[in-house]
Amino acid sequence: MNSLLDVKKLKVGFEGAKPVNVISEVSFSIQKGENLALVGESGCGKSIIAHAILRLLAPEARIEGSILFKGRELLKLSEKEMAKLRGNELAIIFQNASHALNPVYSIGRQLAEPLRIHQKSGKTDATKKVLKALAQLGFSSPEKYLKFYPSWGSGGMNQRFLIASSTILEPELLIADEPSKGLDPARIKEVERELWVLGKEAKSSLLLISHDLGFVRRLADKIAVLYSGEIVELAKTSVFFKQPRHPYSQGLLGSLPENGFVPIPGLAPALCESPSGCRFHPRCPFQKEKCLREHPELKAREERAVRCFLWA
Ligand SMILES: Nc1ncnc2c1ncn2[C@@H]1O[C@H](COP(=O)(O)OP(=O)(O)OP(=O)(O)O)[C@@H](O)[C@H]1O
Ligand SMILES: [Mg+2]
Repeated sequence: MNSLLDVKKLKVGFEGAKPVNVISEVSFSIQKGENLALVGESGCGKSIIAHAILRLLAPEARIEGSILFKGRELLKLSEKEMAKLRGNELAIIFQNASHALNPVYSIGRQLAEPLRIHQKSGKTDATKKVLKALAQLGFSSPEKYLKFYPSWGSGGMNQRFLIASSTILEPELLIADEPSKGLDPARIKEVERELWVLGKEAKSSLLLISHDLGFVRRLADKIAVLYSGEIVELAKTSVFFKQPRHPYSQGLLGSLPENGFVPIPGLAPALCESPSGCRFHPRCPFQKEKCLREHPELKAREERAVRCFLWA
């Protein structure tokens, strides 16, 4: 069976005075209707992967590897073909909502636009769908928001308008980059429900990027843990939370408030100065001599893959 999304050996680097390799040979796949979460500390490369899939990286980016979406190589599509996919079959909720809404168009118009462009919906049909999408995201009198402008809303409100605009076409794959950031717990529940409903009703798949591991645990079927631009553990969510195997994954779970709030010592390395051997070794409580010299492979065993000599 073909995967909906198949990322193989993706590498992303940036040219410049000091060229950097940001993503090193990242591979993962997402099946139809499946949700995969990408987690890891700030700066480890989560948004870069999301933008690489949508081909939205800056011109100085060098991309290698393969990104198959429904069997089509995205890295080889023309800009025109990509534009047809974006927002329609493949959508993203951007990490910085405030820049993604157009300040001069009403929310009603911005939400209806993708329906009119991609689905050729008439005005009445588009309005009906816009009202439904707003209601699903917890707006109690949705009609009020048809003539509402982004500058009138709070950051949290605009975040929810943005989610509505990304989900209204029921894309086959939705990439949600920190969709719950800046929202209060009641709003997070609404966003969670909306993403869940999208998966159940429209059979959409989700690539979820989030620092909120509770949110991830409730929504994702599988988790990929990224450290310094590479995957260090990939596992089914239930298996992962029961027993994380990579020392970094163990550190991430240990730093949760319910697990005692124990921070991982040290800082993630700068991407232009990756340590030799295992990239996590300077912070690892279990480091051995070999970890300083050799770079571990991502090894699959039982229901997961782990990049650690302790696991090999
Ligand atoms: N144009 C660029 N040139 C060079 N480096 C870049 C460029 N854009 C991003 N980076 C680097 O790529 C790395 C990964 O960035 P990315 O935005 O993917 O992190 P992230 O995991 O999404 O972090 P956060 O959780 O804070 O959103 C960062 O270290 C960043 O400095
Ligand atoms: Mg990011």
